[in-house]
Amino acid sequence: MTAPALRPRPAPGLGFQAIGQEEEALVLDVLRRKEPFRYYGNDPAKPPPMAALLEKEFREYVGTDYALAVSSGSAALEVAMAACGIGPGDEVIVTAWSWIACFTTIVRVGARPVLAEIDESLNIDPKEIARLTTPKTRAVMVVHYQGVAAAMEPIIMEAHRRGLYVIEDCAQSLGARYRGRHIGTWGDVGTYSFQFNKVAAAGEGGMIVTRDQRIFERSVRMSDLGNYRPVHAAQAPAREPAFCGAQFRMSELTAAVTLAQLRKVEKIRQHCRALQARVLSRIQGLPGLKLRPIADPAGDMGFEPYLLLDNPDLVGPFRDKLDARNVNCGQRTGTYPQYNRDYVKTGLAYVPAMSPFRDIKPWPAPGYRAEDFPRTEDLTKRFIALPIGWLYTAEDADHIADSIIAVHREIFGG
Ligand SMILES: Cc1ncc(COP(=O)(O)O)c(C=O)c1O
Repeated sequence: MTAPALRPRPAPGLGFQAIGQEEEALVLDVLRRKEPFRYYGNDPAKPPPMAALLEKEFREYVGTDYALAVSSGSAALEVAMAACGIGPGDEVIVTAWSWIACFTTIVRVGARPVLAEIDESLNIDPKEIARLTTPKTRAVMVVHYQGVAAAMEPIIMEAHRRGLYVIEDCAQSLGARYRGRHIGTWGDVGTYSFQFNKVAAAGEGGMIVTRDQRIFERSVRMSDLGNYRPVHAAQAPAREPAFCGAQFRMSELTAAVTLAQLRKVEKIRQHCRALQARVLSRIQGLPGLKLRPIADPAGDMGFEPYLLLDNPDLVGPFRDKLDARNVNCGQRTGTYPQYNRDYVKTGLAYVPAMSPFRDIKPWPAPGYRAEDFPRTEDLTKRFIALPIGWLYTAEDADHIADSIIAVHREIFGG
C-alpha cells in the first residue's frame, strides 16, 4: 500500500504575497508623474505626493498626530532615538531577544544597549525596567515581537515613573493592538518597518509615529539632513534649531508600494487571526504544550502562534516531525539572542573610540553573556513558531492542527 500523498507546503509570507494591481497602479502613478522625490511634488494643483498621503493614512490608521516616512525600520529607530536626544553616555534598555537593529542602532547613536530578559510572552518582562535602570538610562526600546503587543500599561508605568522615554519598535507587528489601541501610540515614539518580511512590505521602508510635536520636528530634521521643509512646517510650525541630520528619506516609489500595502493590513490581520483561531481551538489544552501567553489576545495579529514545550529536548524532534508533514515551523525566526551575535562578542563600533563598551574590561562583561540571561536562554530553546501566511487556506490551518495533534501523540503517547 502506498502512503497517502503529503499535503503541499503552503507558501509563507504576509504583505508581499498580497502585492497586486493596487501596488502597480500607485507605482505607475509616480512614474507617470515623473516625481520620484517626495519634496518636489508639492504643487497644490496636483494630487499630494505618495509619501505625504502614506503619512496621512498611517496617522489615521494607527490613531496618532504625526507620522514620518523614512527609508527603513532601522533608520526609524535611529531617528527616534536622535529625536529623543539620546546619545553618548546614555543607556537604552532593550530585550536580549530582539532583531539586530535593536542593538546596533543604539550603538550607532553612541548610547549603550542594556539587555533585558523576556518573559513567556517573548516580549520584555516589565519588571526588568526597575532592575536595569541606572542614572544613565534614558529610554526603554520595547520590541513587539512577531505580531503580539507587549504589556504596555505596566511598561509605561515603570518607564515614565523613572523619567524614561518609551520607544516602541513595531517593525514586526504593524496592526497589533493593546487594549484596543494600536501599538506605537502608547509610548513617546513608535517605529515600523516595511522590509520584505513585514505585514506591509515594500522591500525597504520605515515609519515613525508620535504625538509629541518636538519629537516629530526633530525626527524630520534627523531624517532630512537637518531640514524642516514647508510641507512639515504646515502641519507643525518650526520651533527647534537645525542640527546635522542623516539622510533617511523615503522615495515616492517606496511610498506608493507601502500605501497600497497599508490598505491591506486589516485584511491580512483578519485572515491570519481566523486561521490561527482555527488551529488553536483544536490544540489548546494538549498536555505538555503551552501557547505563547498574550497580554491582550484581541489585539494579536495572528500570523505566528507559538508552542512552548516544557522539555527543551523534545523541541527538535517535535519540529522535525511537523516539518516532515510539510508544516512550516521554526525555532528561530530571524531573531537571535543578542549576546550570541558577533558584534556583541567583539563589542565594536565602526571605530573603537565610538563603542559604548570601549572602557569595559574584560569584555564581554556581565549583562552581555548567555549565562546572564537564564530565562531568555530557557524560553528560546523551548518554542516552536508556526507561521501563518496570506496564501494559507482553511485546509492548511486544519492540516497544521491535525499534524500537531498527530505529532503530539507520537511524542507524548496517549
Ligand atoms: C524588531 C525589528 N526592529 C527593526 C527592524 C529593522 O527594520 P529594517 O529591516 O526595515 O531596517 C526589524 C526588521 O527586520 C525588526 O524585526
